[in-house]
Amino acid sequence: MTTLTSVPQPLERPRRLRTTAAMRRLVAEHRTHPADLVLPMFVREGLTEPAPLASMPGVVQHTMDSLRRAAIEAAEAGVGGLMLFGVPAARDAVGTAASEPDGILNAGLRALVEEVGDAVVVMSDLCLDEFTDHGHCGVLDGAGRVDNDATLVRYQEMALAQAATGAHMLGLSGMMDGQVAAVREVLERDGYADTSVLAYSAKYASAFYGPFRDAVDSQLRGDRKTYQMDPANGREGLREATLDLAEGADVVMVKPALSYLDVLAEVAELSPVPVAAYQVSGEYAMIEAAAANGWIERRRAIEESVLSIQRAGADFVLTYWATELAGWLR
Ligand code: PBG
Repeated sequence: MTTLTSVPQPLERPRRLRTTAAMRRLVAEHRTHPADLVLPMFVREGLTEPAPLASMPGVVQHTMDSLRRAAIEAAEAGVGGLMLFGVPAARDAVGTAASEPDGILNAGLRALVEEVGDAVVVMSDLCLDEFTDHGHCGVLDGAGRVDNDATLVRYQEMALAQAATGAHMLGLSGMMDGQVAAVREVLERDGYADTSVLAYSAKYASAFYGPFRDAVDSQLRGDRKTYQMDPANGREGLREATLDLAEGADVVMVKPALSYLDVLAEVAELSPVPVAAYQVSGEYAMIEAAAANGWIERRRAIEESVLSIQRAGADFVLTYWATELAGWLR
């Protein structure tokens, strides 16, 4: 028989704070609030019905009408922001449609601003990859390489077109050097001092973007490794964030989220501005697929994954579950 008296009495009993649901709720260090969630949305030119995405069950390419309805639904659930991606009918080498005032992305942004006004933050994707016929995030030089500085001029044109729609925050996701400064400069010059910039500071060349490329009908052959970051590099993520802060970023972001929580934590440590994280398409698809097979509990996995991203230091989280999750939280 074991003698209980031989067991030393613990000096500390952390379990005391886990005894009841009320106690756990009281001492929780983080909690997800609908306002911390941003819903990424896709609008596709020329669609007559919303088109479901096979690799992202529950996510669709919207028509202009279904976009408006989904925006209202998100707003009613209390979601903090909407991030819009456009899928144009026609593409060319310089992504002309991206900066046309009535191009699908700008028309979509205008529709969102019309629906939600100032009640929800309307964010734009500011990048050329959906609009170029080669699928790269920038324009190419004679040798077929992504031309950084020529791309900045296109980003400036996109920024002015997007700001003119009334979008509140421009999401610079192209990973060109100097993109924040270039965009900030034309916004200030043309009277858009209040239009804010969310910099995708540490954006990695990630396999977890796979389903997104279906969502935007990506034309890309090859990869983005000459502009997106190497997953091996953490320190470089801090360098990118530091540069974006110096260039005037209002928010810095880390993307993807779950495989880069270390980078997120370090950026959150040094950043004087709010820090966002993007739970990307592949992260969504993994949880949906495992849940569909009965291998994990869907709701718990979604809540835990978003909470982990907040615990690592994100002030807000872009997630395709934003509306559904916000609904559970109310
Ligand atoms: C590029 C862009 C990408 C994503 C957001 N913006 C794809 C890429 O860099 O290839 C990915 C988002 C996701 O996977 O959910 N404009």
